[in-house]
Amino acid sequence: MAKFKEIFVACFIFAVASFNLAPLVGAKLSKSMYLTWGLQHAAFQGNGEDLRLVLDQTSGSAAQTKKSFLFGSIETLIKLIPGNSAGTVTAYYLSSTGSQHDEIDFEFLGNISGQPYTINTNIYTQGIGNREQQFHLWFNPTADFHNYTIHWNPTEIVWFVDGLPLRVFRNYEKEGIAYPNKQGMKVYTSLWNADDWATRGGLVKTNWNDAPFIARLSHFRARACKWNGPVSISQCAANNIPANWWTNPVYSRLSYAQMRHLSWVRKNYMIYDYCSDFKRFNGQMAPECFKNQF
Ligand SMILES: *[C@@H]1O[C@H](CO)[C@@H](O)[C@H](O)[C@H]1NC(C)=O
Repeated sequence: MAKFKEIFVACFIFAVASFNLAPLVGAKLSKSMYLTWGLQHAAFQGNGEDLRLVLDQTSGSAAQTKKSFLFGSIETLIKLIPGNSAGTVTAYYLSSTGSQHDEIDFEFLGNISGQPYTINTNIYTQGIGNREQQFHLWFNPTADFHNYTIHWNPTEIVWFVDGLPLRVFRNYEKEGIAYPNKQGMKVYTSLWNADDWATRGGLVKTNWNDAPFIARLSHFRARACKWNGPVSISQCAANNIPANWWTNPVYSRLSYAQMRHLSWVRKNYMIYDYCSDFKRFNGQMAPECFKNQF
């Protein structure tokens, strides 16, 4: 162990000295991302720290990071569309490309005024998704900015809201369950009209009289390992990933307090779990449904 530490420190110093990569921490939203859709709608604001996504009848809008990552802690503040947001979806997710793609999703499904937003979470591994878990929130996500973080390391993925875990997907690759650890992913955000399914299963349509719909992102930060081929530990270190990210149980296991919170959320705020939807899957439940997900 001591030996490993020495080697690691030596590699770390070498990496910093030889590549001198600028840490991504501190990179502004407008530096990390660029607009890809609805260019006349969306805008970077607040000295480049804020992104305003706009949806009206002519277009939605979207942005994505310039870089790909493999593992990291990807966080942003989001203030969702206030008032009547029924029919809209605001998305914040990681994705690779191609038919065998991996994806880790946060999607915020709007609602009519006074009715709760639904957070939809999902994960795709090697092109296969169908792993939705949905939640209501314990606060009004349209009144203020809240922190939404995707924590992704070799042993687990955790969806966090304001630092509290909402969902965990653990690496059970040894038991034949695919885990996203071979392809880099970019970070995407978008706002679009999905009134064929988003609100109460598509029953409530978007009311265009309430447009433009505006969602705000702020203080996006990717403390993440940059990916352009197989990732090396030095690329993570240079991006301020904690040195013990790979080996320390603190980063690969929830604390007891976090587990208690997860149970509390599941008990009080979870409204859908693919692992309980026997009808949809004809009783053929995904193998991870039988594993501990804490
Ligand atoms: C909207 O409100 C209804 C009624 O409270 C609720 O059942 C539903 O989960 C909410 N969210 C969406 C996206 O439909």
